[in-house]
Amino acid sequence: MCGIVAYVGPKDAGPILLEGLQRLEYRGYDSAGVVISNKGLKMRKVKGRVADLAAAVPARFKGTLGIGHTRWATHGAPSDVNAHPHLSADERIAVVHNGIIENADELRAKLEADGVVFLSETDTEVLSHLIARTVEETESLEEAVRLALKRIVGTYGIAVIDAQRPGEVVVARNGSPIVLGIGEKEMFAASDVSALVRYTRQVVHLEDGELAVLKADGFHTFASDARETAKEPLTVDWDAGHYDTGGYEHYLLKEISEQPDTVARTLRGRLDDRFHIAHLGGLNMDARETRSFRRVKIIGCGSAYYSGQIGAQLIEELARIPADAEPASEFRYRSPVVEPDTLYVAISQSGETYDTLAAVQELKRKGGRVLGIVNTVGSAIARECDGGLYLHAGPEVSVASTKAFTSTAVAFALLALHLGRVRDLSPADGRRICEGLRRLPEQIKEILALEPQIKELAHKYADSPSMMFVGRVRGYPVAREGAQKLKEISYVHAEAYPASELKHGPLALIGPEMPTVAIVPDDELLDKNLTTLGEIRARGGRVLMVGHRTADPKLADDCVVVPKNETELDPILLSIPLQLLAYHAAVALERDVDKPRNLAKSVTVE
Ligand code: G6P
Repeated sequence: MCGIVAYVGPKDAGPILLEGLQRLEYRGYDSAGVVISNKGLKMRKVKGRVADLAAAVPARFKGTLGIGHTRWATHGAPSDVNAHPHLSADERIAVVHNGIIENADELRAKLEADGVVFLSETDTEVLSHLIARTVEETESLEEAVRLALKRIVGTYGIAVIDAQRPGEVVVARNGSPIVLGIGEKEMFAASDVSALVRYTRQVVHLEDGELAVLKADGFHTFASDARETAKEPLTVDWDAGHYDTGGYEHYLLKEISEQPDTVARTLRGRLDDRFHIAHLGGLNMDARETRSFRRVKIIGCGSAYYSGQIGAQLIEELARIPADAEPASEFRYRSPVVEPDTLYVAISQSGETYDTLAAVQELKRKGGRVLGIVNTVGSAIARECDGGLYLHAGPEVSVASTKAFTSTAVAFALLALHLGRVRDLSPADGRRICEGLRRLPEQIKEILALEPQIKELAHKYADSPSMMFVGRVRGYPVAREGAQKLKEISYVHAEAYPASELKHGPLALIGPEMPTVAIVPDDELLDKNLTTLGEIRARGGRVLMVGHRTADPKLADDCVVVPKNETELDPILLSIPLQLLAYHAAVALERDVDKPRNLAKSVTVE
């Protein structure tokens, strides 16, 4: 979604802002702009890519203070005029904004009645006019920004500069992330650490309601009541190399290929071979508390939700605690009953998904105990939770989630092992799961070696107008995520169904033009799954089977055979060929693989 970068220091701000915006491109956007302060504000903004903006910024745009933005249209179509920054009428104040101002229409009408002329259709422009109106009378830009924000209802991450105060940037956050980057006699801010890591690893996350004033020699943060707050900088361990394609054609393929490593990182230091348990210190719960839960409720959005379904299955199987997953976006709106003996688990790669964050906040308000399974250290969801596990999968750049999905499923296996071993899971089963987890990285390598075969299959099936994905029990979330990957990046319609439900409706769709991807692990349901394949074939449907053995050609046209692990852990491995299938289908159809249309990496609005 929208991205923000800001710089103040001794260097030329333009190239730093453009580089930062380029790093934010992966989040999804439709227009971009920068403003630089140097004896007045110099601004350029364009509909299109950051490269178009860079071409439009004249060489004479020099200055050591500036802000930049990539916009994802909400109020008003993508256009040069609606792109950020937005200036006040006297061109003194410039604002970039992520989020949504809900009372923008009302504020706009009031300002227009006072004679203010609006240039854009955006909600953001009200902010630049509101700040400009008070900045004359206030002692500081910070105070003018605070007064303007008091009148705003909605969410924001903003950066503001004032032509008459050329040494400072004011940033503020409410529901939309802002991270400060601390340099040597220079300060940065951005909506995402990816824009900062080239310059600094020392960061500070703003909390909701906080505002910060940045100058070249440092920063001050304030709560909404203007009291100064104390912040401890955090060192991020992601570096700029994580944000390069590293020789791969797309980030997506790079991230799929990284999975032997990223899974090893999620497991590192967490398996105990003596007692066959998982060490999860970040949960902040002793054994007695861990035993006290009678239910587990998992929430997340998109792929995070599907990995949560794998997680629920793992927890039920290994810990024998009833568990289920629900989209956080639904959960938060249905006034959920929050029970003291339920353990809530929130999942998020970015740690910033607004729906997930709002669901966690609702749970906390009602006294719920919430753990986070999060990839981004120090992110809003991680901070909001009572404890949790970080994935340590490194930054995920491609919009479609792959390595974070897999690492989340692995993190759930660790959590299930932990919950199981303080309950009834035997040491022998604990050992079996520990050993299975250790085998995963090598087995993922074996699956990645199947890429040429999967590529060929992707070419064979990519021109289907629609595809069905089916799986039973453990295989069902795998099918759902497989269908999600395919539709997200290749735009081929795909539906996922429990294989058991096929005969209750969707079988009517099956025919030669609707192939089925069937997840068929070697488990207690194998025979039932093979019967389903027979039913599909009898209706003239083509079948691509993903499982642990090749099937009779009467049952499947094609088979992808993956290595077998422990039955409970098999869904983790079965998901990986489906990532490669979606990737190669998208490439065959010449899609914008890393930035699929209409989607954003991190959805920080409702
Ligand atoms: C967006 C992305 C999905 C992602 C979901 C949740 O919709 O396009 O790929 O799964 O957000 O993101 P999170 O960062 O919370 O895991």
